[in-house]
Amino acid sequence: MTVARTTIESEVKRRRAFAIIAHPDAGKTTLTEKLLLYGGAIQLAGHVRARRDRRKTRSDWMKLEQERGISVSTAALNFEYDGYYLNLLDTPGHEDFSEDTYRTLMAVDAAVMLLDAARGVEPQTIKLFHVCRERQIPIVTFINKMDMPAKDPFSVLDEIEKVLGITCSPRLWPMGSGPDFKGLFDLESGQVHRFERVTGGTFRAPEKTGGLDDPELQSIMDPELYRVFREGAELVREALPAFDPGLFRAGNITPVFFGSAVTNFGVQLFLDHFLKLCPPPSGMRLTDGTRLDPTDDHFSGFIFKLQANMNKQHRDRVAFLRITSGVFERGMTVTNSRLDKPVKLSSPVAFFGQERQTVDVAYPGDIIGLINPGVYQIGDVLASGPVPAFTPIPRFAPEMFARLVATDTGRLKAFRKGVEQLSEEGVVQVFTTEDGSPVLGAVGTLQFDVFRSRLEDEYGAPCRLEVMPFECSRWIRESDRGAFSSYDRIVKDQEGRPVVLFKSEYRMQSFVQSKPDVPLFEHPPASE
Ligand code: G4P
Repeated sequence: MTVARTTIESEVKRRRAFAIIAHPDAGKTTLTEKLLLYGGAIQLAGHVRARRDRRKTRSDWMKLEQERGISVSTAALNFEYDGYYLNLLDTPGHEDFSEDTYRTLMAVDAAVMLLDAARGVEPQTIKLFHVCRERQIPIVTFINKMDMPAKDPFSVLDEIEKVLGITCSPRLWPMGSGPDFKGLFDLESGQVHRFERVTGGTFRAPEKTGGLDDPELQSIMDPELYRVFREGAELVREALPAFDPGLFRAGNITPVFFGSAVTNFGVQLFLDHFLKLCPPPSGMRLTDGTRLDPTDDHFSGFIFKLQANMNKQHRDRVAFLRITSGVFERGMTVTNSRLDKPVKLSSPVAFFGQERQTVDVAYPGDIIGLINPGVYQIGDVLASGPVPAFTPIPRFAPEMFARLVATDTGRLKAFRKGVEQLSEEGVVQVFTTEDGSPVLGAVGTLQFDVFRSRLEDEYGAPCRLEVMPFECSRWIRESDRGAFSSYDRIVKDQEGRPVVLFKSEYRMQSFVQSKPDVPLFEHPPASE
């Protein structure tokens, strides 16, 4: 099958690949569910059931996810809305998962930064924001929970600008907050949208539109609140900088929306604006500074996530591929750049929670899952023509270490298999000591818990973790092994590269001062 060029162009144009970044509890799950409802991807009646089922399935799949009440895995959901085709990538919200999140953010074209209107910018927001900034991903801000007592909207904008250093350009302005949250003023259309709270029955809040001078508006608001709203709306309209799409796409200005995901005030309005603002796949950046044309004749994509045991019955491994150019067709043969070997992509799937569907055709911006990918690693580029040189997905130097000990010697085979597969997924980094025993490295202790729990649940390999007294690590040159003292421990990473573990940041700094000619690398260096 050959797909016409005009089809590729129009399919790319209607695609949007994005993620929601938020501090836990800001309402990411709630907003995601509302977006899926608008996309018709879930129904209201089924949605409550699906949520309950999901909890059940989740507990089978990953007990820890339920116990800790956090989202550990990254999944991609796709749905259509108003002619657009959306790929929403779920970024784990817990701070321990920054590496996984980083990889996901390599695969999106835009991000929604979700804030809690009462809490403003929180620690996890800052971390995730900086990742987006570094990658120059356009960021759209949604200030959620306006139905609860909230900070003054101007002070939230001020906080975003001061803490994150990005210019705010409000596109909607709220009418009140908490119990007095009545609606939103759309700065672009000049329309006021008034909502009514509803319970049950429908997920859409009944809505009325009118102009800013609509007398009905004044009659439903407390005169003082109305005055504050009017003054605020006039001020943002006149005083704040005009929206500049170029600055937005470069990640220097963020359009700001207000709303309430739980009562569904302003979610559709947000979605409509967001889809117009959010760029279609515009081409991934290449190492030479140019961008890959997504409508290129040749297919290409990269693996940004591996996940083992997505479905316990299948016991399979899935590699998530972000398509970057050309058309994907089921059964096509491509080259895996790392192995320089042809691979036939015969069983690609799209996921919706636990459900999977075979994919016959997919376009740039889409995420597909490749089953049974013993051959794939994170960062692998698959291409049908010349292999594009993407900026590599970085690995980070871990800050916590633990020796992993199998406690049931009868399960050693399963233990080794589990360690290999989970380390391939990048749940933690696995190093080996001189005597070949595994040492886990992570940026947060929760990653250790996840690793141990998955090894026990999914591979039936009970184990114990012995925390090691090291606090930082750096990759080193093979030839520098002799430069370190017995205080420091040298281990090997999965590719056999030497990594030194230091007892403390202080110890590392004093090493740097005493041996300035021995370079330490925060990310794995290119081979010597
Ligand atoms: P997360 O994925 O970002 O961690 O947040 P999640 O959507 O789970 O929301 C966290 C809590 O905030 C939930 O309450 C949710 O109902 C609530 N929430 C989300 N959006 C809004 C909003 O616009 N307004 C208000 N008032 N609350 C909101 P919960 O009590 O923890 O859970 P639940 O029992 O309501 O599910």
